[in-house]
Amino acid sequence: MDLEQKIADTLALLQRIGTEFKPAVFANSFGAEDMVLTDLIAKHNINIQSFSLDTGRLPNETYELMQKVHERYPSHPVQVFFPDAGQIESWVNANGINSIYDSIELRKACCHIRKGEPLKRALAGKTAWVTGLRREQSPTRTDLGNQEYDSGNGLEKFNPLIEWTEKDVWAYLRANNVPYNALHDKHYPSIGCAPCTRAIAVGEDVRAGRWWWENPENKECGLHVKSDVVSIIPVSSSLSAAPGR
Ligand code: ADX
Ligand code: SF4
Repeated sequence: MDLEQKIADTLALLQRIGTEFKPAVFANSFGAEDMVLTDLIAKHNINIQSFSLDTGRLPNETYELMQKVHERYPSHPVQVFFPDAGQIESWVNANGINSIYDSIELRKACCHIRKGEPLKRALAGKTAWVTGLRREQSPTRTDLGNQEYDSGNGLEKFNPLIEWTEKDVWAYLRANNVPYNALHDKHYPSIGCAPCTRAIAVGEDVRAGRWWWENPENKECGLHVKSDVVSIIPVSSSLSAAPGR
């Protein structure tokens, strides 16, 4: 499938989500994929509200991009969620700011407080959420579809870029002059929190710089728990289909 077709299908899916699922939200990490979705949603005035989880430990380059997005897309502001102050204060005071390197349990606890719990608040009362997940990003994402029921969070989940390649993402960003995270030009294809993200070497996997000290099977922060129902819906034939279960 060529890029023009992928863009048309993605746009059609976003428009369907905006029309059929109210309210629907888009989880925006400001990574390259999410900038494609940001641009499409804003340009086509799609009824999907963007939100971002500010963990408090994001790289400065991400904050610079957040500000650029705020200025470039004034009609589609990104709602920011922060960790619960009491929870993160207790955890840091008990464990130390960088105990995330000491065990997977501590790392996951940090992810839970800084991302998992705020995500629950961001999704409360919503009927669908949209992510920038792509199948080729990771072994944990190879069997994902573009629509699935997220039983953990109790709403529909859409991954409109699931079939996009990294090349597709960059072709879109360049052709549309979309702003992107300056770290991408410094060998950071995948960007999360500063202490848990590093640059990759030539030939390394795109997510090799995320939680680089852990095994690839562990490299998820809990935002994307495996769903039991996965479907790959051809967008053109799903336009008139019922929203789901
Ligand atoms: S992660 O699970 O390893 O952190 P990744 O960085 O690949 O995820 O991003 C995958 C998708 O998860 C993004 O396209 C976005 O939809 C969502 N996401 C990840 N981090 C955040 C964040 N901080 N705020 C909002 N959405 C996020
Ligand atoms: Fe904490 Fe690292 Fe998870 Fe960010 S990615 S929430 S710093 S463990």
